[in-house]
Amino acid sequence: MKTPMPGTGERFRSGKPATMKEHVDSVPPYQREIYQRGARGQNPRVPMHFEELQAKARQQLPARAFAYVAGGAGQESTQRANRRAFEDWHIQPKMLRDVSERTMKLTIFGREWRAPLMLSPVGALGLVREQADALVARAAARCRTPMVFSNQASVKMETCASLLGDSPRWFQLYWSKSQELVASLVSRAEACGCEAIVVTLDTPLLGWRPRDLQLGSLPFARAIGLAQYLSDPVFQSYLDEVQLRPGGPITLAALQVFYEACRNYGGSLWQNLRTRRPLKAVQQFIDIYSRTDLVWADLEFLRQHTRLPIVLKGILCAEDARLALDAGMDGIWVSNHGGRQVDGARTSLSALVEVVAEVKGAVPVFFDSGIRAGADVFKALALGATAVGLGRPFALALGLAGEEGVVEVIENTLAELDLTMALAGCCNLEEVRAHRLLR
Ligand SMILES: Cc1cc2nc3c(=O)[nH]c(=O)nc-3n(C[C@H](O)[C@H](O)[C@H](O)COP(=O)(O)O)c2cc1C
Repeated sequence: MKTPMPGTGERFRSGKPATMKEHVDSVPPYQREIYQRGARGQNPRVPMHFEELQAKARQQLPARAFAYVAGGAGQESTQRANRRAFEDWHIQPKMLRDVSERTMKLTIFGREWRAPLMLSPVGALGLVREQADALVARAAARCRTPMVFSNQASVKMETCASLLGDSPRWFQLYWSKSQELVASLVSRAEACGCEAIVVTLDTPLLGWRPRDLQLGSLPFARAIGLAQYLSDPVFQSYLDEVQLRPGGPITLAALQVFYEACRNYGGSLWQNLRTRRPLKAVQQFIDIYSRTDLVWADLEFLRQHTRLPIVLKGILCAEDARLALDAGMDGIWVSNHGGRQVDGARTSLSALVEVVAEVKGAVPVFFDSGIRAGADVFKALALGATAVGLGRPFALALGLAGEEGVVEVIENTLAELDLTMALAGCCNLEEVRAHRLLR
């Protein structure tokens, strides 16, 4: 029996003579530029391969910074499994499909994105580099890649927003014990032009993270990752009332932490030492950071306080996806927080398959945890993700090479995604989504 022609498009049937342009495109411009720079003796600033990126970051970043970014929960089995899950799925390249014209564009909540890739919210990046989130915002704007402001950012959202031009941005919320603070953060996000609120559900408590525990390192104790709070009028108003609880013995290390908290708090060092307001901020943050009693019905509060789409991050099963739909949520973000919360939790990729089957296209399904390169993005899309988030790779690149490092990681990922599409026989994201992966 004759195999039917694939697809319905004319492009499968009628060959057209290759033009000069198509010959040039057989090495896409970004890749060509890398080879040309290489020929002049200029190598990429950050290693192309994730394992090497991580190894270099281990050598060069301060121990506390590397532990925080690279570490996961417990024995890090979920973190490893996230990667293995990608390796269990295989792309089936298809031939003779005319892939000379390709696009990665898509529309999310009414806004056109360059590609199905965004920067996941990553907190406490101030550990990794000064002005961290501001550098990330500059890179995101240059790459026209959406940025999700972390609730635990080290630069306040207003500053990052001002650096983003008209590039898309979302705000990620950790639901505080103070509803007033939640409302304030959300209204600031709206004022900053955020186009969605992402509520992260998987961190009502910080996971058991041995690498940080071993170093006794909690960035927030040094007022790293508190920029959204310190710049918030509601949070600041609470500090007037804070009574400091007695601390432990005054050691050199404790003084160092206090000094760093004062520095990160900003303003006059002398004033900070005198009022001890940075310590009050740290204590207040720890007291109200999150709610362990949050339930599905609470989402109504957020709905009443924002006109923006609400996306729930941390969903890992069909049952919760159904509850999210029933609660009228606008998007679901499948994630196990990069294996940082529950060691032994299922892989994000296996949850994606289940959630996509439950949601049946009713709302977009976002994905992260384990994306290391463009081929991973392809696989997640083929398994039904609408768009994916990049996490550790950009955080480590930020540490190694600042803004330029982040730009490189984003552009490398997008270039590899584009090539993977072409070599698999796909010209657009509909074709990627229709692509059947093999197990
Ligand atoms: C250092 C670090 C900090 C993070 N901070 C946040 C955060 O503030 N809010 C949040 O929702 N997720 C946070 N995440 C989780 C990421 O958004 C994302 O889910 C995770 O990085 C995906 O895993 P991967 O980086 O291994 O691909 C953080 C992840 C890392 C590595």
